[in-house]
Amino acid sequence: MMQTHTRPAVDVAELQEMLEDHAPVTVLDIRTAEDRAEWAIPGSLHVDAYEALKAGDPDALAGAAIPMDAPVVTICGAGKVSITAMEQLRARGYDARSLSGGMKAWSLAWNSAEAPAPDSAATVIQVRRTGKGCLSYLIGSDGEAVVIDAALPPEVYQELAAEHGWVITAVLETHIHADHLSRSRLLAEVTGAALYLPAQDRVSYPFTPIDAGEALTIGSSRLVALHTPGHTLESTSYLLDDSALFTGDTLFLTGVGRPDLEASPEQARDRARLLHASLARLTALPPETVLLPGHTSEPAPFDNRPIATTLAEVKERVTMLGLSEDAFLETILARIPPTPPNHAQIVALNEAGALPEGDPTDLEAGANRCAVS
Ligand SMILES: [Fe+2]
Repeated sequence: MMQTHTRPAVDVAELQEMLEDHAPVTVLDIRTAEDRAEWAIPGSLHVDAYEALKAGDPDALAGAAIPMDAPVVTICGAGKVSITAMEQLRARGYDARSLSGGMKAWSLAWNSAEAPAPDSAATVIQVRRTGKGCLSYLIGSDGEAVVIDAALPPEVYQELAAEHGWVITAVLETHIHADHLSRSRLLAEVTGAALYLPAQDRVSYPFTPIDAGEALTIGSSRLVALHTPGHTLESTSYLLDDSALFTGDTLFLTGVGRPDLEASPEQARDRARLLHASLARLTALPPETVLLPGHTSEPAPFDNRPIATTLAEVKERVTMLGLSEDAFLETILARIPPTPPNHAQIVALNEAGALPEGDPTDLEAGANRCAVS
Protein backbone atom coordinates (compact mmCIF):
# COMPACT_ATOMS: atom_id res chain seq x y z
CA MET A 1 0.00 0.00 0.00
CA MET A 2 1.30 3.38 -0.96
CA GLN A 3 2.16 5.98 1.65
CA THR A 4 -0.50 8.69 1.46
CA HIS A 5 0.48 12.33 1.90
CA THR A 6 -1.15 13.84 4.92
CA ARG A 7 -1.33 17.27 3.29
CA PRO A 8 -4.07 17.12 0.66
CA ALA A 9 -2.99 20.18 -1.33
CA VAL A 10 -0.10 20.81 -3.71
CA ASP A 11 0.74 24.38 -4.61
CA VAL A 12 2.06 25.60 -7.95
CA ALA A 13 5.67 25.86 -6.77
CA GLU A 14 5.62 22.29 -5.47
CA LEU A 15 4.15 20.79 -8.63
CA GLN A 16 6.53 22.88 -10.74
CA GLU A 17 9.44 21.45 -8.76
CA MET A 18 8.15 17.86 -9.12
CA LEU A 19 7.92 18.26 -12.91
CA GLU A 20 11.30 20.03 -13.04
CA ASP A 21 12.87 17.12 -11.12
CA HIS A 22 10.99 14.52 -13.21
CA ALA A 23 9.66 13.07 -9.96
CA PRO A 24 7.14 10.23 -10.42
CA VAL A 25 3.71 11.85 -10.54
CA THR A 26 0.50 11.50 -12.55
CA VAL A 27 -0.99 14.91 -13.22
CA LEU A 28 -4.69 14.17 -13.66
CA ASP A 29 -6.67 16.83 -15.50
CA ILE A 30 -10.39 16.32 -14.83
CA ARG A 31 -11.68 19.32 -16.79
CA THR A 32 -13.95 19.16 -19.85
CA ALA A 33 -12.32 18.52 -23.22
CA GLU A 34 -13.21 22.07 -24.21
CA ASP A 35 -11.38 23.61 -21.25
CA ARG A 36 -8.41 21.34 -21.76
CA ALA A 37 -8.16 22.36 -25.43
CA GLU A 38 -7.53 25.94 -24.28
CA TRP A 39 -4.43 25.13 -22.16
CA ALA A 40 -3.06 22.15 -20.25
CA ILE A 41 -0.10 20.93 -18.23
CA PRO A 42 2.46 19.13 -20.44
CA GLY A 43 2.32 15.37 -19.95
CA SER A 44 -0.90 15.43 -17.94
CA LEU A 45 -3.47 12.63 -18.17
CA HIS A 46 -6.97 13.70 -19.13
CA VAL A 47 -10.17 12.16 -17.79
CA ASP A 48 -13.25 14.20 -18.75
CA ALA A 49 -14.97 13.75 -15.37
CA TYR A 50 -15.81 17.33 -14.48
CA GLU A 51 -19.58 17.15 -14.91
CA ALA A 52 -19.86 13.75 -13.20
CA LEU A 53 -17.74 14.92 -10.25
CA LYS A 54 -19.74 18.11 -9.92
CA ALA A 55 -22.96 16.09 -10.00
CA GLY A 56 -21.66 14.01 -7.08
CA ASP A 57 -21.31 10.75 -9.01
CA PRO A 58 -19.21 8.56 -6.66
CA ASP A 59 -17.96 6.55 -9.67
CA ALA A 60 -16.89 9.59 -11.69
CA LEU A 61 -13.34 8.27 -12.01
CA ALA A 62 -14.06 4.55 -11.65
CA GLY A 63 -13.60 3.69 -15.33
CA ALA A 64 -10.37 5.65 -15.81
CA ALA A 65 -6.99 3.91 -16.16
CA ILE A 66 -4.99 5.87 -13.59
CA PRO A 67 -1.67 4.29 -12.57
CA MET A 68 -1.52 3.24 -8.90
CA ASP A 69 2.27 3.27 -8.68
CA ALA A 70 2.83 7.04 -8.52
CA PRO A 71 1.29 9.92 -6.59
CA VAL A 72 -1.57 11.67 -8.38
CA VAL A 73 -2.15 15.42 -8.51
CA THR A 74 -5.69 16.31 -9.57
CA ILE A 75 -6.29 19.50 -11.56
CA CYS A 76 -9.36 21.51 -12.46
CA GLY A 77 -9.95 25.11 -13.44
CA ALA A 78 -9.85 26.73 -10.01
CA GLY A 79 -8.99 23.94 -7.55
CA LYS A 80 -12.44 23.03 -6.20
CA VAL A 81 -13.78 20.06 -8.20
CA SER A 82 -10.24 18.62 -8.17
CA ILE A 83 -10.68 18.19 -4.39
CA THR A 84 -13.65 15.90 -5.02
CA ALA A 85 -11.52 13.96 -7.52
CA MET A 86 -8.75 13.69 -4.93
CA GLU A 87 -11.18 12.40 -2.28
CA GLN A 88 -12.57 9.75 -4.62
CA LEU A 89 -9.07 8.59 -5.52
CA ARG A 90 -7.97 8.52 -1.89
CA ALA A 91 -11.00 6.39 -1.05
CA ARG A 92 -9.74 3.94 -3.66
CA GLY A 93 -6.25 3.83 -2.15
CA TYR A 94 -4.43 6.37 -4.31
CA ASP A 95 -1.87 8.81 -2.94
CA ALA A 96 -3.79 11.75 -4.38
CA ARG A 97 -3.52 15.47 -3.81
CA SER A 98 -5.22 18.46 -5.45
CA LEU A 99 -3.51 21.46 -7.09
CA SER A 100 -4.52 24.55 -5.10
CA GLY A 101 -6.01 27.20 -7.34
CA GLY A 102 -6.15 24.86 -10.34
CA MET A 103 -5.16 25.98 -13.84
CA LYS A 104 -5.76 29.63 -12.91
CA ALA A 105 -2.97 29.45 -10.35
CA TRP A 106 -0.86 27.33 -12.72
CA SER A 107 -0.81 30.34 -15.06
CA LEU A 108 2.27 31.53 -13.12
CA ALA A 109 4.22 28.25 -13.38
CA TRP A 110 7.47 28.51 -15.32
CA ASN A 111 10.55 26.68 -16.44
CA SER A 112 13.68 27.66 -18.31
CA ALA A 113 16.03 26.52 -21.06
CA GLU A 114 19.32 27.81 -22.37
CA ALA A 115 18.77 29.17 -25.88
CA PRO A 116 21.31 29.08 -28.69
CA ALA A 117 23.15 32.22 -29.78
CA PRO A 118 25.98 30.62 -31.79
CA ASP A 119 28.07 33.69 -32.66
CA SER A 120 27.59 35.45 -29.35
CA ALA A 121 29.68 35.27 -26.20
CA ALA A 122 26.50 35.90 -24.21
CA THR A 123 24.40 33.22 -22.52
CA VAL A 124 20.69 33.39 -23.26
CA ILE A 125 18.17 31.89 -20.82
CA GLN A 126 14.65 31.44 -22.15
CA VAL A 127 12.23 31.80 -19.24
CA ARG A 128 8.97 30.10 -20.15
CA ARG A 129 5.77 30.88 -18.34
CA THR A 130 4.50 27.42 -19.19
CA GLY A 131 1.05 28.00 -17.70
CA LYS A 132 0.45 30.87 -20.09
CA GLY A 133 2.86 30.58 -23.04
CA CYS A 134 4.77 33.83 -22.45
CA LEU A 135 8.49 33.64 -23.23
CA SER A 136 10.91 36.09 -21.65
CA TYR A 137 14.68 36.20 -21.88
CA LEU A 138 17.62 36.78 -19.59
CA ILE A 139 20.77 37.57 -21.56
CA GLY A 140 24.01 37.58 -19.61
CA SER A 141 27.58 38.48 -20.52
CA ASP A 142 30.59 39.29 -18.35
CA GLY A 143 28.63 39.71 -15.13
CA GLU A 144 25.87 41.85 -16.65
CA ALA A 145 22.41 40.85 -17.78
CA VAL A 146 19.33 42.28 -19.45
CA VAL A 147 15.79 40.96 -19.33
CA ILE A 148 13.42 41.13 -22.31
CA ASP A 149 9.63 41.03 -21.77
CA ALA A 150 9.50 40.13 -18.06
CA ALA A 151 6.21 38.25 -17.52
CA LEU A 152 6.91 36.70 -14.11
CA PRO A 153 7.57 38.13 -10.65
CA PRO A 154 10.95 39.93 -10.34
CA GLU A 155 12.46 37.29 -8.04
CA VAL A 156 12.36 34.69 -10.85
CA TYR A 157 14.78 36.79 -12.93
CA GLN A 158 16.79 37.96 -9.93
CA GLU A 159 17.41 34.38 -8.77
CA LEU A 160 18.34 33.14 -12.25
CA ALA A 161 20.72 36.10 -12.69
CA ALA A 162 22.27 35.46 -9.26
CA GLU A 163 22.82 31.77 -10.14
CA HIS A 164 24.89 32.88 -13.14
CA GLY A 165 26.69 35.67 -11.28
CA TRP A 166 25.00 38.40 -13.32
CA VAL A 167 23.66 41.79 -12.25
CA ILE A 168 20.55 42.90 -14.14
CA THR A 169 21.45 46.29 -15.61
CA ALA A 170 18.62 46.80 -18.11
CA VAL A 171 15.04 45.70 -18.60
CA LEU A 172 13.49 45.90 -22.08
CA GLU A 173 10.14 45.36 -23.70
CA THR A 174 9.43 44.44 -27.32
CA HIS A 175 6.05 46.20 -27.21
CA ILE A 176 3.12 47.10 -24.96
CA HIS A 177 1.58 43.70 -24.27
CA ALA A 178 -2.10 42.78 -24.50
CA ASP A 179 -2.02 39.18 -23.32
CA HIS A 180 -0.18 39.39 -19.99
CA LEU A 181 0.66 41.98 -17.37
CA SER A 182 4.18 43.22 -17.92
CA ARG A 183 6.48 42.91 -14.91
CA SER A 184 9.23 44.99 -16.57
CA ARG A 185 8.56 48.23 -14.73
CA LEU A 186 8.46 46.39 -11.40
CA LEU A 187 11.63 44.43 -12.21
CA ALA A 188 13.46 47.65 -13.13
CA GLU A 189 12.32 49.26 -9.87
CA VAL A 190 13.29 46.30 -7.71
CA THR A 191 16.72 45.85 -9.32
CA GLY A 192 17.52 49.50 -10.02
CA ALA A 193 18.06 48.55 -13.68
CA ALA A 194 17.33 50.97 -16.52
CA LEU A 195 13.93 50.48 -18.18
CA TYR A 196 13.94 50.68 -21.98
CA LEU A 197 10.76 50.65 -24.02
CA PRO A 198 10.29 51.18 -27.74
CA ALA A 199 9.72 54.89 -28.40
CA GLN A 200 5.95 55.56 -28.22
CA ASP A 201 3.51 57.78 -26.37
CA ARG A 202 1.28 55.04 -25.01
CA VAL A 203 2.66 54.53 -21.51
CA SER A 204 2.23 57.11 -18.78
CA TYR A 205 5.26 56.30 -16.59
CA PRO A 206 8.94 57.19 -16.98
CA PHE A 207 11.14 55.05 -19.24
CA THR A 208 14.09 55.45 -21.57
CA PRO A 209 12.89 55.29 -25.17
CA ILE A 210 14.83 53.00 -27.45
CA ASP A 211 14.90 54.02 -31.09
CA ALA A 212 15.51 51.97 -34.23
CA GLY A 213 19.18 51.15 -34.70
CA GLU A 214 20.15 51.95 -31.13
CA ALA A 215 22.44 49.45 -29.43
CA LEU A 216 22.72 48.40 -25.79
CA THR A 217 25.87 46.87 -24.39
CA ILE A 218 25.67 43.78 -22.18
CA GLY A 219 29.17 42.88 -21.00
CA SER A 220 30.99 42.12 -24.23
CA SER A 221 27.78 41.70 -26.26
CA ARG A 222 25.62 44.09 -28.24
CA LEU A 223 21.85 44.16 -28.54
CA VAL A 224 20.54 46.22 -31.47
CA ALA A 225 16.94 47.47 -31.67
CA LEU A 226 15.10 46.92 -34.97
CA HIS A 227 11.76 48.72 -35.31
CA THR A 228 9.33 46.09 -36.61
CA PRO A 229 5.84 47.66 -36.51
CA GLY A 230 2.72 45.66 -37.35
CA HIS A 231 1.55 43.68 -34.31
CA THR A 232 1.61 47.07 -32.61
CA LEU A 233 3.00 50.30 -34.01
CA GLU A 234 5.90 50.41 -31.53
CA SER A 235 6.82 46.69 -31.83
CA THR A 236 10.58 46.31 -31.75
CA SER A 237 12.79 43.26 -32.24
CA TYR A 238 16.28 42.95 -30.76
CA LEU A 239 19.28 41.37 -32.48
CA LEU A 240 22.02 39.97 -30.25
CA ASP A 241 25.51 39.96 -31.80
CA ASP A 242 24.08 39.33 -35.31
CA SER A 243 23.23 35.87 -33.97
CA ALA A 244 19.93 35.64 -32.08
CA LEU A 245 16.78 37.62 -32.85
CA PHE A 246 14.19 38.40 -30.16
CA THR A 247 11.01 39.05 -32.11
CA GLY A 248 8.40 39.62 -29.39
CA ASP A 249 4.99 39.15 -31.04
CA THR A 250 6.16 40.03 -34.56
CA LEU A 251 7.27 36.55 -35.68
CA PHE A 252 6.73 33.19 -34.01
CA LEU A 253 7.94 29.67 -34.77
CA THR A 254 4.72 28.81 -36.56
CA GLY A 255 3.01 32.12 -37.24
CA VAL A 256 3.10 35.90 -37.27
CA GLY A 257 1.74 38.56 -34.90
CA ARG A 258 -1.89 39.58 -35.10
CA PRO A 259 -2.32 43.17 -36.30
CA ASP A 260 -5.84 43.85 -35.01
CA LEU A 261 -5.71 44.31 -31.21
CA GLU A 262 -6.78 47.80 -30.09
CA ALA A 263 -7.29 48.69 -33.76
CA SER A 264 -10.22 49.51 -36.05
CA PRO A 265 -10.58 47.33 -39.19
CA GLU A 266 -8.83 50.06 -41.25
CA GLN A 267 -6.02 50.36 -38.70
CA ALA A 268 -5.65 46.58 -38.66
CA ARG A 269 -5.23 46.65 -42.44
CA ASP A 270 -2.59 49.37 -42.20
CA ARG A 271 -0.78 47.43 -39.48
CA ALA A 272 -0.90 44.25 -41.52
CA ARG A 273 0.82 46.17 -44.32
CA LEU A 274 3.50 47.41 -41.90
CA LEU A 275 3.88 43.87 -40.57
CA HIS A 276 4.47 42.54 -44.06
CA ALA A 277 7.33 45.01 -44.53
CA SER A 278 8.75 44.30 -41.03
CA LEU A 279 8.72 40.55 -41.68
CA ALA A 280 10.44 41.05 -45.03
CA ARG A 281 13.25 42.93 -43.22
CA LEU A 282 13.60 40.28 -40.52
CA THR A 283 13.60 37.35 -42.93
CA ALA A 284 16.30 39.09 -45.01
CA LEU A 285 18.71 38.62 -42.07
CA PRO A 286 21.17 35.69 -42.44
CA PRO A 287 19.24 32.36 -42.59
CA GLU A 288 21.20 30.89 -39.65
CA THR A 289 19.98 33.67 -37.32
CA VAL A 290 18.20 32.08 -34.33
CA LEU A 291 14.58 33.16 -33.83
CA LEU A 292 13.52 33.60 -30.20
CA PRO A 293 9.84 34.59 -30.04
CA GLY A 294 7.74 36.21 -27.32
CA HIS A 295 5.14 33.46 -27.14
CA THR A 296 4.43 29.83 -27.76
CA SER A 297 0.98 28.48 -28.50
CA GLU A 298 1.73 25.22 -26.64
CA PRO A 299 2.67 24.87 -22.96
CA ALA A 300 6.47 24.61 -22.66
CA PRO A 301 7.45 21.12 -21.41
CA PHE A 302 9.88 20.69 -18.50
CA ASP A 303 12.54 19.46 -20.92
CA ASN A 304 15.12 22.29 -20.85
CA ARG A 305 14.85 22.44 -24.63
CA PRO A 306 14.59 25.97 -25.98
CA ILE A 307 11.66 27.05 -28.11
CA ALA A 308 13.74 28.35 -30.98
CA THR A 309 14.55 27.79 -34.61
CA THR A 310 16.47 29.46 -37.42
CA LEU A 311 15.08 32.01 -39.84
CA ALA A 312 15.69 29.50 -42.64
CA GLU A 313 13.43 26.98 -40.89
CA VAL A 314 10.71 29.49 -40.05
CA LYS A 315 10.59 30.64 -43.68
CA GLU A 316 9.80 27.05 -44.65
CA ARG A 317 7.19 26.60 -41.95
CA VAL A 318 5.31 29.89 -42.15
CA THR A 319 4.01 30.04 -45.70
CA MET A 320 2.53 33.51 -45.11
CA LEU A 321 6.09 34.86 -45.13
CA GLY A 322 6.43 34.11 -48.83
CA LEU A 323 3.31 35.99 -49.88
CA SER A 324 3.06 39.27 -51.78
CA GLU A 325 1.70 42.21 -49.78
CA ASP A 326 -1.82 41.85 -51.20
CA ALA A 327 -1.98 38.10 -50.62
CA PHE A 328 -0.49 38.53 -47.12
CA LEU A 329 -3.14 41.11 -46.19
CA GLU A 330 -5.95 38.95 -47.48
CA THR A 331 -4.65 35.85 -45.68
CA ILE A 332 -3.82 37.39 -42.31
CA LEU A 333 -7.07 39.36 -42.05
CA ALA A 334 -9.08 36.23 -42.83
CA ARG A 335 -7.29 34.21 -40.14
CA ILE A 336 -7.50 36.54 -37.11
CA PRO A 337 -8.22 34.35 -34.05
CA PRO A 338 -10.79 35.24 -31.36
CA THR A 339 -9.85 38.27 -29.29
CA PRO A 340 -7.99 37.30 -26.08
CA PRO A 341 -9.98 37.71 -22.86
CA ASN A 342 -9.51 40.93 -20.88
CA HIS A 343 -7.06 42.39 -23.41
CA ALA A 344 -8.40 45.94 -23.06
CA GLN A 345 -7.94 45.88 -19.26
CA ILE A 346 -4.49 44.33 -19.60
CA VAL A 347 -3.40 46.96 -22.12
CA ALA A 348 -4.74 49.74 -19.86
CA LEU A 349 -2.75 48.41 -16.90
CA ASN A 350 0.39 47.97 -19.02
CA GLU A 351 0.05 51.53 -20.31
CA ALA A 352 -0.29 52.73 -16.72
CA GLY A 353 2.60 50.51 -15.59
CA ALA A 354 0.40 49.03 -12.88
CA LEU A 355 -0.38 45.57 -11.58
CA PRO A 356 -3.90 44.90 -10.28
CA GLU A 357 -4.65 44.74 -6.57
CA GLY A 358 -4.77 41.10 -5.54
CA ASP A 359 -4.33 38.14 -7.85
CA PRO A 360 -3.00 39.05 -11.33
CA THR A 361 -4.08 35.68 -12.75
CA ASP A 362 -7.74 36.75 -12.51
CA LEU A 363 -7.08 38.94 -15.55
CA GLU A 364 -4.45 36.83 -17.22
CA ALA A 365 -6.31 33.52 -17.33
CA GLY A 366 -6.63 31.92 -20.75
CA ALA A 367 -4.35 31.02 -23.59
CA ASN A 368 -2.17 33.37 -25.58
CA ARG A 369 -3.81 34.61 -28.70
CA CYS A 370 -1.24 36.99 -30.14
CA ALA A 371 -0.42 34.87 -33.19
CA VAL A 372 -1.94 34.22 -36.60
CA SER A 373 -0.83 30.95 -38.16
FE1 LIG B 1 1.48 41.07 -28.03
